[in-house]
Amino acid sequence: MRGFLRTMTTTLMLMPVQLSAQDLPPGEGRDLVMSTCAGCHGTRNIYQSLGYTAAGWKTLASTMVDLDGAPDMDVIAAYLAAHFPPNDARAPVRVDGPVQITFESWSGPILGQRARDPVEAPDGLIWWTGQWADLVTRLDPETGEMREFDLPAGARAHTVTAAEDGMIWYTGNGNGTMGRLDPETGEITEYPMPDPAAGDPHSAIVAPDGRVYFTVQRGNMVGRLNPVSGVVDLVTMPVQRARPYGIKQARDGTIWVGANGSNHLFSLDPETLEITSHEIPDADSHVRRLDIAPDGKVWYVNSGRGRIGYLDPETDELREWPSPSGPNSHPYAIAWFDNAVWYNESGMRPDMLVRFDPIAESFQSWPIPSGDIHAGILRHMRVTRDRSALLIHQSATNTIMRVRLRRDALSD
Ligand code: HEC
Repeated sequence: MRGFLRTMTTTLMLMPVQLSAQDLPPGEGRDLVMSTCAGCHGTRNIYQSLGYTAAGWKTLASTMVDLDGAPDMDVIAAYLAAHFPPNDARAPVRVDGPVQITFESWSGPILGQRARDPVEAPDGLIWWTGQWADLVTRLDPETGEMREFDLPAGARAHTVTAAEDGMIWYTGNGNGTMGRLDPETGEITEYPMPDPAAGDPHSAIVAPDGRVYFTVQRGNMVGRLNPVSGVVDLVTMPVQRARPYGIKQARDGTIWVGANGSNHLFSLDPETLEITSHEIPDADSHVRRLDIAPDGKVWYVNSGRGRIGYLDPETDELREWPSPSGPNSHPYAIAWFDNAVWYNESGMRPDMLVRFDPIAESFQSWPIPSGDIHAGILRHMRVTRDRSALLIHQSATNTIMRVRLRRDALSD
């Protein structure tokens, strides 16, 4: 539990204001819930959860809090089960299909870290960020061995990504920096943003030439960092409060960005950083993440409307399909994997992993496993370097997962 108290203190300072104590219904245990649970995330997560039995609440809590140290988990669980019992308000529409997959999973030792964004480095090791614990962790998936690296306090790394030279880049979402970790030495180099308005670097990619491109969501910018000179260039989006979010690079070098605050995709010239806006129909459309297929089509989740779609930059053709669980399914992460589009329905419990076959125009979905409870959230997924597996995670239950197709099953 190293670093846990430090984590809690800075978490309380930096977390956005959420619902307060008064919002929980009165009853024995309410104060205990407030003191044990609300420090990391307020009570909003409790309202938004599926609801569980007392045993289910204990299981879920054990993925976030060390129950040995919790004051009285029985009272807490009884209170929560009485006021937030199981329900099916967020039940997904499950779609069966022919594809079979396997899930392998790992959990980091520091609970409640908001584990997220696993990525494979060139040496095959897997990295993720524990955003709320100012931590990045390296996992050897063959042995299960893990090593944790502390980041500067308050960095709140939103994502982590690996460069070809083995360096690990993270976005200092809490302290307005980009950061580079040298896994050999553990040394961290921070690159402060040249404009204080760029306070929240968010998602990042490393281009083949080593330059790092990143979004700044609230600052409404995209940045480029040259690791040789250390120079950071920033450009502001042409649409106010567009909230640039996911970022990917196409094979022709074009940088593509999703907008979490407006109905646009943006493309950027990697040299001039000139931005082109691509409007998506319907004002309530917004795009958390996107990925680019080998044919150049830009696939995106329309998180605002519960749909997925693509924009073909060659023809400007745009198509969308409703996700199986409907308008409130909130598709979030997305990746092109094994000739299909994979994404998740983060608004549902269980959070569903969905495969969309663009040729057959058919869906198939699986619950992302978390034992007897149905937690979330998958926020970012990436494919391993040999493209044999999909790396996913669950930020509530502190879990990193590797998804593979069962080829033997396919050929049966
Ligand atoms: C050390 C930090 C921490 C503490 C303490 C904590 N949680 Fe959490 N909890 C998390 C994180 C991280 C998430 C994921 C949040 C996210 O993805 O935005 C989460 C998510 C949740 C969710 C949402 C699950 C879903 O459906 O996705 C619920 C419900 C929840 N917590 C309940 C509790 C309860 C009840 C307690 C007290 C017994 C508690 N938490 C204590 C860190 C914590």
